[in-house]
Amino acid sequence: MSQGSQTALTGPVMCIVGARPNFMKMAPILRALAAHQPPLASLLVHTGQHYDQGMSHQLFEDLGLPRPEINLEVGSGSHAVQTAEVMRRFEPALDEHKPSCVLVVGDVNSTLACTLVAVKKGVPVAHVEAGLRSWDRKMPEEINRVLTDQVADRLYTTERSAADNLLREGVAAERVCFAGNVMIDSLLANRDKARSAADTLRAHGADPALLGHPAGYAVVTMHRPSNVDDAVTLRSLLEVLREVSTRLPLVFALHPRTRSNIDRFGLGGLTDPARMVMLPPQGYLEMVGLMAGATMVLTDSGGLQEETTALGVPCLTMRENTERPITVEQGTNTMVGRDPAAILQGVTDILEGTGKRGRVPELWDGRAAERIAADLWHWLRAGAA
Ligand code: UD1
Repeated sequence: MSQGSQTALTGPVMCIVGARPNFMKMAPILRALAAHQPPLASLLVHTGQHYDQGMSHQLFEDLGLPRPEINLEVGSGSHAVQTAEVMRRFEPALDEHKPSCVLVVGDVNSTLACTLVAVKKGVPVAHVEAGLRSWDRKMPEEINRVLTDQVADRLYTTERSAADNLLREGVAAERVCFAGNVMIDSLLANRDKARSAADTLRAHGADPALLGHPAGYAVVTMHRPSNVDDAVTLRSLLEVLREVSTRLPLVFALHPRTRSNIDRFGLGGLTDPARMVMLPPQGYLEMVGLMAGATMVLTDSGGLQEETTALGVPCLTMRENTERPITVEQGTNTMVGRDPAAILQGVTDILEGTGKRGRVPELWDGRAAERIAADLWHWLRAGAA
């Protein structure tokens, strides 16, 4: 067991991470379980859904995550293969370690796979970041969210609308606990350690002078299959981003899926190295530094919508929907879809100072993990019923 000493509970809290967006959610939870009085023992399992240096190892280091006790090393594959492999390899680990409960975060394939294995064996499951809905069943993450929430036992939410979604789907109110946003716990804990954008560019051989543009710079990330797997869509997005780059320089942090599709579809010519810096996936401290110094962020990521809201940096989300509506209602997020005119208008509004200001949502205060640990303790003591 990695964290804390023996508790009155029968076994450790088995904490699951699989893909990049899980790591920043789990780091504060592990710390809070250990800091709880009495401590809750934990055991970290990495499914290996994300496995390379940029997508996984660097983030473990940045976030101070302990080395996982168990690595299932599933790697890439179709959704079916990836989900099935996690299930197949997780089952013996679960049998061996007899946890008090399994704790999953977010909406990736590993989240659903481990939940299914555990609930069918009668092991209680807690889901952190429950109840978010995009209402878009074409997103693999939406399927993972809906199914995980249906069968998990304890559901921790990040915003109040999530509880409404869960109740509408027939979930009993007693299973839901509004805890706040653990991703923002990580952001606040690491903000002062963030690497400056200039250092990050320098480290990749790019000229930091670019950041001194009178309009500042924009950070871009995209990796959603709906945006990057289709050549026509990806071309159109790159064309509009090229247009945006005539107004302010762009710093991309390229997901491997996007990188390989740009090459596969022969779209490399649409990037202009003088105004568009193409970086590989970034570490956490690099990403926070890049975002914090940016004039705006253009993205299709779920996490970045929340992080920009917490940082007060305007965000244009290149998707038709969001499962994180509070970032639009209260934060700095504007949905611009994939329509070039809407994207360019969003950029204009921000550059002209008429973009959103936003405020930080309720319980995005850096203490969500602490609240989760406290609730988990009481819930497990009460028999996880
Ligand atoms: C996954 C999650 C998504 C999350 C995203 C963040 C699901 C359904 N999706 O999508 O919710 O927002 O991670 O990154 O779980 N690859 C590498 N190195 C790696 C990992 C992946 O090169 O370390 C490549 C794979 O070979 C694959 C592509 O990246 O071609 C996509 O990886 P995959 O894990 O299938 O899904 P993501 O698109 O990353």
